[in-house]
Amino acid sequence: MDKLVIEGGQALAGEVRVSGAKNAALPILCAALLSPEPLTLSNVPRLNDVRTMQSLLGQMGLRQESAASGAVSLDASRIDWPLAPYELVKTMRASILALGPLLARCGEARVSLPGGCAIGLRPVDQHVKGLQAMGAEIDLTHGYINARAIRLKGTRFAFDVVTVTGTENLMMAATLADGVTTLENAAREPEIVDLARCLIAMGARVSGAGSDRIVIEGVDRLHGATHAIMPDRIETGTFLAATAATGGDVVVNGTDWHALAAVIDKLREAGADIATTESAIRVRGDGRPRAANVRTAPFPAFPTDMQAQFMALVARAEGTSVITETIFENRMMHVQELRRLGADIEVEGNTAVVRGVERLTGANVMATDLRASACLVIAGLVADGETTIDRIYHLDRGYERIEDKLCALGARIRRVQ
Ligand code: EPU
Repeated sequence: MDKLVIEGGQALAGEVRVSGAKNAALPILCAALLSPEPLTLSNVPRLNDVRTMQSLLGQMGLRQESAASGAVSLDASRIDWPLAPYELVKTMRASILALGPLLARCGEARVSLPGGCAIGLRPVDQHVKGLQAMGAEIDLTHGYINARAIRLKGTRFAFDVVTVTGTENLMMAATLADGVTTLENAAREPEIVDLARCLIAMGARVSGAGSDRIVIEGVDRLHGATHAIMPDRIETGTFLAATAATGGDVVVNGTDWHALAAVIDKLREAGADIATTESAIRVRGDGRPRAANVRTAPFPAFPTDMQAQFMALVARAEGTSVITETIFENRMMHVQELRRLGADIEVEGNTAVVRGVERLTGANVMATDLRASACLVIAGLVADGETTIDRIYHLDRGYERIEDKLCALGARIRRVQ
C-alpha cells in the first residue's frame, strides 16, 4: 500500500491547473447510458473513481475510446447487462448513478445497494422513492435494487432531504420519461448544473438546474453530444487552503471561483488574500491564519467536502474555531489524526472546537477517507519535520497526481510503497 512522506515547512508558490471535477464526471459518464449515440467528454479527470465507473459501464456493454488529449468517448448503442454488481458498488457508492439512466433507457435495472461508508450511513431511499413516484416497480432483495418500468412517467417529486446524487439520478431518469417531471427541494450544486448542460447538449429538455426546482420535459430519445467537464471546485479549494496554510502565493488556473464563493469567503476570514479573474484564483497567505467558524450545508453554503481541509488550516490559527458538520454524521475522523500532529481539537457530536496551536509537528497518520486524506496532506505541509500518511489510496480516488502538482509548487512530498 502506498504512503506519502511529506517534509513540512515549505510555502507553496507558483501556478497550478485544476483537473475536471470528479463529482461532475461520475454522473456525466452515466448519462452516456441514456443515448444510443456516442457521448464524447473532455477534461475527464484521471482518477481511480473515474476508472471504476468506466469499468462498470464497460461491464454493461458500453464501448469506450480514450484519445491522447484525455477525451473519452462512450458508445451505449448496446447495453447488454443493465447491472451494477456488488463488487463494484462496494468500492464506489457513486455507482448508484447508473440506476436512473439504466431504468429509463432499458426499462429495467439491477443495482447493488450501496452500504454505509466511513463518513456515514448514506441511505439511497430518496433515489428509490423518486423512481417509484415516476411509476417504477422496485423491490429490494438480497442487497439489490431491482427496478422495472416499461416507460417512466413524469411526476412532481419533492425530496425529503437535499441529495446531490439523488437529484442527478432522477434528473437523468426523467429525460426519457413520458411527460413533465418537476423535482422540488432539489440540490443546487454546480455539478448538477454541469450535468444538466450535458443532458441539454444530448437533446434533453431541462430547466431550473442550479435552483431547488428542476423541470424536465421527457423526450423519446437523446442523441450524441460532446461536453467538457467543469473544473473541480473541491480540488481548487484544497489548493487554496494548502497555500493559505503554508503562507504561500499560488495562482490556481482553469477554475471558476463562482462555484466556491463560500469557501473563498471563509478563507478570507481566516486571513488569506484572494483575488479572482474569470478562470483563475490567486491566493496568498501570510503568517498565522486567523480563527474562523464554519458550518457545512448544501450549496451555496460551505461544502462538506472542504470541511476537513479547512480544519487543517485553522488548526494553526490564532484563536479558536468552531466547525460544525451538518451533512454526514461521521465526518470528523481526521480529528484524531490531526491530534497526532499536535492539534488541539475537541469533538462533541458533529462539532469540533479547534484551538489553534502555534506549530504542528510531523507524525505517522492514517487517511480514513478522501477529504480526510487531503486534510492530512495540508497538515503535513505545515508541520515541522516529517509526516507519513498511510492508506493514501483514498486520495487517488479523487485527486489527480496531487503530489506531483504540490511538488511543482515547491512542496517536498514523495510516494513510497
Ligand atoms: N441522504 C438520505 N437519503 C438519500 C440520499 C441522501 O438520507 O436517499 C442523506 C445522506 O445520508 C446525507 C445527505 O442526505 O446525510 C446528503 O447526501 P447526498 O446524497 O447529497 O450525498 P451524495 O450524493 O451521496 C455527493 C458527493 C459527495 C458529497 C455529497 C454532499 C458525488 C459522487 N458525491 O454525495 O462527495 O460529499 O454529495 O455534497 O457527487 C467526496 O467527493 O468526497 C464526496 C463524498
